[in-house]
Amino acid sequence: MPKSWKTRLIHSDAKVPEGYRSLASPVYRGSTTIFPDAASVDDSWDQHAAGYTYGLYGTPTTLELAAKICEIEKGFRTIITPGGQGAISLINLAFLKAGDHVLLPENVYTPNRKLAGLVLRRFGVETNFYPPQIAGGIKDLIRNNTRLVWCENPGSITMEVQDVPAIAQAAYAAGVLVALDNTWSAGIHFDAFAHGADITMQALTKYVGGHSDVLLGSVTVRNPDLYQKLGTTHQLLGCAASPDDCSLALRGMRTLAVRLKHIEASAWKIGHWLAERPEIERVLHPALEGSPGNELWKRDFTGSSGIFSIVFKPEITKEQVLRFVDKLELFEIGYSWGGVTSLAVAYDFRGSKGRPDYGHRIVRLNIGLEDTQDLLEDLERSLELL
Ligand SMILES: Cc1ncc(COP(=O)(O)O)c(C=O)c1O
Repeated sequence: MPKSWKTRLIHSDAKVPEGYRSLASPVYRGSTTIFPDAASVDDSWDQHAAGYTYGLYGTPTTLELAAKICEIEKGFRTIITPGGQGAISLINLAFLKAGDHVLLPENVYTPNRKLAGLVLRRFGVETNFYPPQIAGGIKDLIRNNTRLVWCENPGSITMEVQDVPAIAQAAYAAGVLVALDNTWSAGIHFDAFAHGADITMQALTKYVGGHSDVLLGSVTVRNPDLYQKLGTTHQLLGCAASPDDCSLALRGMRTLAVRLKHIEASAWKIGHWLAERPEIERVLHPALEGSPGNELWKRDFTGSSGIFSIVFKPEITKEQVLRFVDKLELFEIGYSWGGVTSLAVAYDFRGSKGRPDYGHRIVRLNIGLEDTQDLLEDLERSLELL
């Protein structure tokens, strides 16, 4: 059929050689997916079962990232979301309904806590908080309408390690699902499914992305039934991740092992060094003796990562803590973590129910890929200026 140049801009006969192979994952962008004939048109979300139907449910780039995260976490299937908090929301909306009850650890990532109070409550879901080190005692908090127990291992900022197998055993006995935020371990150092979780999520924004330039999340489930519930909700919420972002995460995955290895060693050395400093009361790093849940970390984890907290001695004032952070030269001040740049953020837990009483004295450090000795010198210089 003859075509005008305007039509050729869209329906071109131009050809490129076939057979290109590259080490990089191609980026497949796309909203519309082409069907071979009119009878094949289908809006099923499960691209593994139905083939490709619509960009919202994943292009090969999105699905490649999902499959690789799933392989590492040893789950049944993974769905990629536009951020870690999006992954948390998706889990709650997929598995909870009005009249249900959910249990959250007191040290859970704050937006997860706020989601319960500000959104889930509006939809008739009730929440209770439990001490992160409750272990099998969780059974006393499980009610007839409890549907989901969240774990975060270790928890945000105060870094308590949880006895996930004990919690999962009690939840399983009561027919309750366990969802776990596995971001700290990058889905690598803690085998969540082997320890009883039904659903895991990660903020891929952190270690998988690894360069502070992408926001992505993942939800991985244990079995086909959970996958059906998750996928249906994901389709209807319409929270698709960008294939461009997924390609950055796929690139991040290729270097994750070496980045994590360096970060783990560097954070451990810095944590040890800080524990000996006269200004510091304690270091909250799961792999350090005396940190809350260190015994559980030794039992359940195969390694540690680079985010941990320090607690200053009681005589150190809030102004001194803030000055310490401000005077650091290599540590930048900012949220999120897992990238190549070291970060420091001061927190104030006064009035936070269920948190240890560290008041204004707690600072969270993210160790990046800078030279460890340089970071130690930066910390020392800043401590000397207190
Ligand atoms: C433990 C944990 N989970 C989830 C998130 C949310 O990730 P995102 O920033 O990608 O929404 C964060 C982010 O700080 C986090 O620290």
